[in-house]
Amino acid sequence: MNSTENVLEIRDLVKDFPGVRAVNNVSFDIKRNTVHCLVGENGAGKSTLIKMLTGAYMRTSGRILLNGEEFTPHSTRDAKKNGISTLFQELNVVDQLTVEENLTLGMEDTTFGFLRKTDKISRMVSVLNSIEPSIKPRQLVSSLSVAKKQIVEIAKAVAAESNIIIMDEPTAAISESEIARLFDVIRGLREKNVTVIYISHRLDEIFELGDYVTVMRDGKHIETKPVSEIRDRSELIKMMIGKTVFEQYTPREKDCEDIILKVKNLSNHRLNDVSFEIRAGEIAGFYGLVGAGKTELARAIYGVDEYEGEIIFKGKKLQPSPGKVIAAGITLVPEERRSQGLFTILTIRGNVPVMNMAKISRNGFINNATENKVALEYVDKLNIATNSIEKEAAKLSGGNQQKVVLAKCLFADADLLMLDEPTRGIDVGSKSEIYGIIRQLSQEGKTIIIFSSELPEIMNICDSIYLLYDGSLKSTLRNGCDVSSENILHIVTGGE
Ligand SMILES: Nc1ncnc2c1ncn2[C@@H]1O[C@H](COP(=O)(O)OP(=O)(O)OP(=O)(O)O)[C@@H](O)[C@H]1O
Ligand SMILES: [Mg+2]
Repeated sequence: MNSTENVLEIRDLVKDFPGVRAVNNVSFDIKRNTVHCLVGENGAGKSTLIKMLTGAYMRTSGRILLNGEEFTPHSTRDAKKNGISTLFQELNVVDQLTVEENLTLGMEDTTFGFLRKTDKISRMVSVLNSIEPSIKPRQLVSSLSVAKKQIVEIAKAVAAESNIIIMDEPTAAISESEIARLFDVIRGLREKNVTVIYISHRLDEIFELGDYVTVMRDGKHIETKPVSEIRDRSELIKMMIGKTVFEQYTPREKDCEDIILKVKNLSNHRLNDVSFEIRAGEIAGFYGLVGAGKTELARAIYGVDEYEGEIIFKGKKLQPSPGKVIAAGITLVPEERRSQGLFTILTIRGNVPVMNMAKISRNGFINNATENKVALEYVDKLNIATNSIEKEAAKLSGGNQQKVVLAKCLFADADLLMLDEPTRGIDVGSKSEIYGIIRQLSQEGKTIIIFSSELPEIMNICDSIYLLYDGSLKSTLRNGCDVSSENILHIVTGGE
């Protein structure tokens, strides 16, 4: 095979961290001008592998060939000069600047050789225009959606003549309608002589977008295959976790009856006269596209945002202040878990019990044995990939950090648990384990409200489904009888 057919050749690549071999002797090729997907469970080693390609981490051993030549980037800047750009999950765009200013921000002279600044700007703008004409150069970035901000970053990489763009879970924070547009842009990159390396836990995306897929498990390379040779989702899941998972809603034996939460005529900057009732012990799900008002509703109930109207919990009117809401027995697992919910310098053991110290203390002292037991129990239940409960949260993989925050809130012992996008960034196997825990909590009498933009999640576990569109509650359904995904999608996209 002609070596230049492969843009990258990865040979026996190894990365060790203290006590863990994150990437274990991985070898595979990436063909030029393809979309090459990388999948695997949380902690499989995907991000670590990518970071060795981008110069963020030095490898322990092994080789990387870029365009047939030995490649050892010493920094991300170094990798960028060699044509490898990364679309980080935390976007690099600056909201207060215009699109044009962002495009030229941090622009290195080296990438453009002898071009003058005005030429550079016009080249950037014409690249952006060829990718997404609806984005105007003079527009403020703060007025763009997350997907469009990502497109600005892609344009920046293309204009800088990157021929490899790496995307680590780029769609985690964007809505389905916008994902379609982003995908068009990604598909178009093949013609621009760009190879895309794409990491995602949403398997449907792999089939929609990928030419090739590499599966990793426990740091090892399992297989690299053309996507067209994989029969379906379940074959891919089996490659990833070594077993098949099955998901379907099972109606509960006895309907919940007592009303625990009553929301009456709730309105604020984003919500429009929302009223509903939640029964004690049920799993309720709010579904809607991004911007429909899910997070805003959660924040209002939690007392973070102001509102008009009334919220009654266990017969008493809730005061709009988080301290009082928590004291009444309500917890919220926020959408931005990594930044809002995790003490990254604490260990797993230190993080899990923080919202419910009483449960692990006796006479005012922390009982170490109980603390250990609780941490081990949740590591096991949620399948957190770690070699020890003493690992600092900062050193866990992205999905495993999410699981720690979730563990913390599940342990909090609230009567009403609100979860905003509970399984975002979490792999398929662990998702079903989290669903299992949610079901178990509801059987123990806890009430759960899920806010999600993933329809299968809502349809799999929720007893009642609430559909939001543009800040209004459009419909309430009982799962198991009158529910179809076509019908739901029709309503949440504004249909009557
Ligand atoms: N800086 C670090 N120090 C120590 N261990 C680390 C560090 N970064 C990653 N690890 C470990 O390496 C392993 C692989 O992590 P990595 O982030 O590559 O997984 P991933 O496949 O990207 O998972 P996810 O889907 O959850 O993002 C994990 O066991 C993780 O705990
Ligand atoms: Mg990762």
